[in-house]
Amino acid sequence: MSDRNRLRSLVDFFNRHFGGDPIVVKSPGRINLIGEHTDYNQGFVLPAAIDKAVYVAVRKNEDNQIRLFAQAYEDFEEITVDDLRPSVVKPWTNYILGVVDQLKKRGQALTGFDLIITGDIPLGAGLSSSAAVECATAFALNEIFDLKLSRLELVKLAQKAEHEFAGVMCGIMDQFASVFGKKDHVIKLDCRSLEYEYVPLKLEGLNLVLFDSQVKHSLASSAYNKRREACEASVELIRKRYPAVQSLRDATPEMVYECVKPVDEVLFQRANYVVQEIIRVPLACNDLMENNIKAFGTKMFATHHGLSKHYEVSCPELDFLVDQVQHISSVLGARMMGGGFGGCTLNIIEESATPAVIDSLTRSYFDAFAIDLKTYLVSLEDGTHIA
Ligand code: GLA
Repeated sequence: MSDRNRLRSLVDFFNRHFGGDPIVVKSPGRINLIGEHTDYNQGFVLPAAIDKAVYVAVRKNEDNQIRLFAQAYEDFEEITVDDLRPSVVKPWTNYILGVVDQLKKRGQALTGFDLIITGDIPLGAGLSSSAAVECATAFALNEIFDLKLSRLELVKLAQKAEHEFAGVMCGIMDQFASVFGKKDHVIKLDCRSLEYEYVPLKLEGLNLVLFDSQVKHSLASSAYNKRREACEASVELIRKRYPAVQSLRDATPEMVYECVKPVDEVLFQRANYVVQEIIRVPLACNDLMENNIKAFGTKMFATHHGLSKHYEVSCPELDFLVDQVQHISSVLGARMMGGGFGGCTLNIIEESATPAVIDSLTRSYFDAFAIDLKTYLVSLEDGTHIA
């Protein structure tokens, strides 16, 4: 569906459902070229917003009620502004109400509103549909209540909403990418200083292709939180000898070897992956700036190896999707992407060879797992804005 048609049908639907004219905010999903599980370790990431997005239509109402409708689930929820709490029965509402909760905690006086949410980000595919919902909501409420919050403040409160209402102790990457994305650029973000730089992505004759494993692990969020705890535990061990170290960003591979390995081998594997990945991102970024996509792709494979064997956030399906393309010369790089335990692999594939690679991988994936592989060719787009 074109953007204009989607917009028109969303506004029509809103008129019929709630009445009145809403504003519509669009907030995209994201990919991450490299720098995985580095954001909550204060390292670097290289994400970008993509051409799949969440749309929210929102309008203030005259009472104290929040009325929500999700087109994907054809589900309605109504709650009073003073009675916010995370929902187990309707988890989709948490990404919206979590934002309202954060705004209230910051002392913003909010009244009720009506909101309809729709979009085309595949759910559970690791493309951060949840962050997109949070960011679209935060942006829209900032507009209709005239809160005058900056983009960075919106990012931070969307991240906090995820912590407190969805229970995932995520880093800042997904929300940052959704809000700050820029067409045809990736964002080199330093998650410690929050300084960022847009790097143009020139992939002449190449496609960015996502292979969606269609695997969604129910324990993914608790496993994610456990990885974060492992990183914090490693930092504690390093700090005993190097008190200046605040996060794995400050640690060297030697420190990890010296302080973590003798105590706990699993912690060592986790911390070592993160420290290596933090070193890898600026190098990979230089490859991109020099247009050396082959060198960049080699680093993607190295990241996948680390995520799979040392950080242990992959799964057999994702490993299969990467193994199958690793020796195809027209595939320059591939790796699992995002939090892990399912979702997509990101691939850089020569344009002319893309249909054949998709075809053969679709067949071999079905033979191996009896799952229909989904494929998305992505382009890089602007971040959150009024549609
Ligand atoms: C999820 C989190 C991000 C980031 C990635 C892994 O997408 O939301 O903050 O940690 O996993 O890089």
